[in-house]
Amino acid sequence: MSIVLERRLEEELERFVRDGVYKRLNLLDSPQAARVTMEGRGSVIILSSNNYLGLSAQPEVIEAGKAALDRYGAGTASVRFICGTFTIHRALEAACARLVGSAASLSFVSAWNANEAVPATLLGEQDIVISDQLNHASIIDAARLAKAITKCQTAVYRHADLADLEQKLAAAHDRRVRLVITDGVFSMEGSIAPLPELVALCRRHDAVLMVDDSHATGVLGAKGRGTAEHFGMVGEVDIITSTLGKALGGAAGGFVAGSAAVCDYLTQRARPQLFSNALPPTVAASSLASIEYLETHPERVRGLRDNARYFRERLIELGFKPLPGETPIIPVILGETADAIRMSDLLLADGVFVTGFGFPVVPQGQARVRCQVSAAHTREDLDEALAAFKRVGQRLKLI
Ligand SMILES: Cc1ncc(COP(=O)(O)O)c(C=O)c1O
Repeated sequence: MSIVLERRLEEELERFVRDGVYKRLNLLDSPQAARVTMEGRGSVIILSSNNYLGLSAQPEVIEAGKAALDRYGAGTASVRFICGTFTIHRALEAACARLVGSAASLSFVSAWNANEAVPATLLGEQDIVISDQLNHASIIDAARLAKAITKCQTAVYRHADLADLEQKLAAAHDRRVRLVITDGVFSMEGSIAPLPELVALCRRHDAVLMVDDSHATGVLGAKGRGTAEHFGMVGEVDIITSTLGKALGGAAGGFVAGSAAVCDYLTQRARPQLFSNALPPTVAASSLASIEYLETHPERVRGLRDNARYFRERLIELGFKPLPGETPIIPVILGETADAIRMSDLLLADGVFVTGFGFPVVPQGQARVRCQVSAAHTREDLDEALAAFKRVGQRLKLI
């Protein structure tokens, strides 16, 4: 290993510690649930997990994974087109497509891979990707990768700013394909993309709309079918990507859902498909069981929504000012990164695990603690967490 590199890494790591931005990993010794066992701290209430429906510890989900391990073994041992694809992948992909209302879907080992696959595979030199400014890092990198690989153009529109998007679309009228990409739910804000307006704008400009529903699948809509269901527009989004690593069991994996041609083309040409193993069958089976659970238990989604509303309203009553919204992502803006980290440290010492986020994950001066409520939380869990917020808020003179 180069001494120059090693020394530079060590110096930078020391700087992260000095600047208060070094991330310490908290070790858990229990499944993700409303409360987790954290090494050195015992039982803590977790308010920073994407386990929105509480399915990662659902007995049916765990059993399905175990059964798949017995039936299929540990994995594909190569890529799907070379050594075969398991029937559980076909069943999972049919369920993903059914859930979000698309003709077909294709699974990937992560939503990161799914996002990266789409523009770099489907676009060419004559095309353009236009991305919301606050899109997830995987979309930002997907656009960069597409530009590097295909030489397509890229553009960014101001967050949820339809006038700015319209300008960018008009300026790109000579491009062969205009691909607009947005998060369905923005993970740091908890806000929902203005889907009806985006669909209308894309139709007017003959653009393709791709929505990353990673924080909306299992969360938005009466049946948890995502942003499109929330707005009564199932079937109207051209391409949906989402994760299997949040509400749908929380293990790992992602998918692209769209037309049969989109999914078949990605099967033929997407580099993460052609040069990387498929999802392990245990994960495919747990994810499938999660989708089937969601399809038969819409009350879980209602429970999630009730919990989110309850927690948000009580926080406001305490005097906090969370960003307005209706999703289970409830950010409390504090300003400086050090303040967000301090609040998250004090909450953890008080038995509540909430992560603080600062620059560069969120804009400078908008550091925050981000609460994420789950259907698995009982009112007792939420009340206990709120009592800790009250104590810490008073100590830090925030309320
Ligand atoms: C909006 C969004 N897209 C994609 C991803 C990546 O998901 P995965 O963990 O499946 O790669 C995340 C995860 O944080 C996300 O929040």
